[in-house]
Amino acid sequence: MGVVNDTQKWIERIVIGLDLCPFARLPFEQDHIRLVESRGDSVSAILAELLHEIDLLDADTPEADTTLLIVPNLLRTFDDFLDAVGAAEALLTEMGHDGRYQLAHFHPDYVFADSDADDPANHTNRSPHPTIHILPWKQVRNAMQTHPNVSRIPARNMALLRGIGAENLPSLHGPKPRDLRAELSPFKCWDHHTQEIFEREGEALEDCILQNREEVISFAEFIEANNIKSYLEVGVWTGRLVTALHSVFDFERVAAADQGWAETKGFNIHLPKETSVFRGNSDSAEYKSWRKALGHIDLVLIDANHSYAAVKQDFEINRQYPHRFLAFHDITGANRWTTGVRRFWEELNEGFKLEILRPHAELELDHSIMGIGIWSEVLP
Ligand SMILES: C[S@@+](CC[C@H](N)C(=O)[O-])C[C@H]1O[C@@H](n2cnc3c(N)ncnc32)[C@H](O)[C@@H]1O
Repeated sequence: MGVVNDTQKWIERIVIGLDLCPFARLPFEQDHIRLVESRGDSVSAILAELLHEIDLLDADTPEADTTLLIVPNLLRTFDDFLDAVGAAEALLTEMGHDGRYQLAHFHPDYVFADSDADDPANHTNRSPHPTIHILPWKQVRNAMQTHPNVSRIPARNMALLRGIGAENLPSLHGPKPRDLRAELSPFKCWDHHTQEIFEREGEALEDCILQNREEVISFAEFIEANNIKSYLEVGVWTGRLVTALHSVFDFERVAAADQGWAETKGFNIHLPKETSVFRGNSDSAEYKSWRKALGHIDLVLIDANHSYAAVKQDFEINRQYPHRFLAFHDITGANRWTTGVRRFWEELNEGFKLEILRPHAELELDHSIMGIGIWSEVLP
């Protein structure tokens, strides 16, 4: 039970939790992944179990879509494991299963052929116990047809893990955390398509969240951990971030301020109907009286004009009104439009500062090109 349980937690928290395999969630939630602990005491006994598992998958109405054969004790060294996988692949060919079944393999000491042992990217294939995954080709084909870009998945995963670092992987112990990745998955963030538009037009002219998905997830974790009940976003573009966060957290109060740049570019602004909205300049007298009337807001995200002077001004204005946290987008200052935010953030030398810097995995980058800084006047 322990071995299967470990593997279940690994699938839930690492494979699905980090979206390493976008095809795992559905069969896992439907209980269509068979997890079997091998009893074999030799490689040939394990191969016999493998063939038995294939027979089960071959049944007219198989109980599972796919099977993970976990080999807890016998193949502890990675080289022995690779030899056994090689023998299993040869056996599949011999038995005429080529083109019908494919094997994937995972091991606690997995090292890619061209990687160092301490490269965090190896964790894309590291499981709690040596494991052989039997995949029917028809499942693989379905997956390839339904996913927009299967070929990008490995590079995305490696970038994500290198950016997170092995020591920061989700824990397999303790209670299961809220699955904010899944809750935010319907909302499109800054991906390759956005990046192409940005490079072509000099502006991200797309109706989506203009943020790195990994940072939005971490921002949501912050919101969850700090029991944020009210949220104001200054600079909302088409309103997709406010909408996503409100749908996940159902804030008691939600507010948005923007001068309406998106509309001048032919986009509509979408905000939850209960949003208090200010249309205009965030450093105007009208903004100040609107903000004053709004009263206490737990978290204010400043993401409007990114020049140094404007960010500093937004900070000075918004700190005057009751709040718990002020957050700033683009603190890495990775391009010429955002260097002012970095300068402001680096100069900010009072209160408490927290940085959300996550790999931009959707662009296959192992580092942040945006970043969210969160500031509070007093210890949170
Ligand atoms: C980068 S976008 C915001 C992206 C959005 N927060 C998101 O995460 O998807 C910047 C927005 O700030 C607004 N903006 C820029 N300068 C402003 C100002 N001085 N006052 C109010 N809004 C401003 C623009 O209209 C634009 O919609």
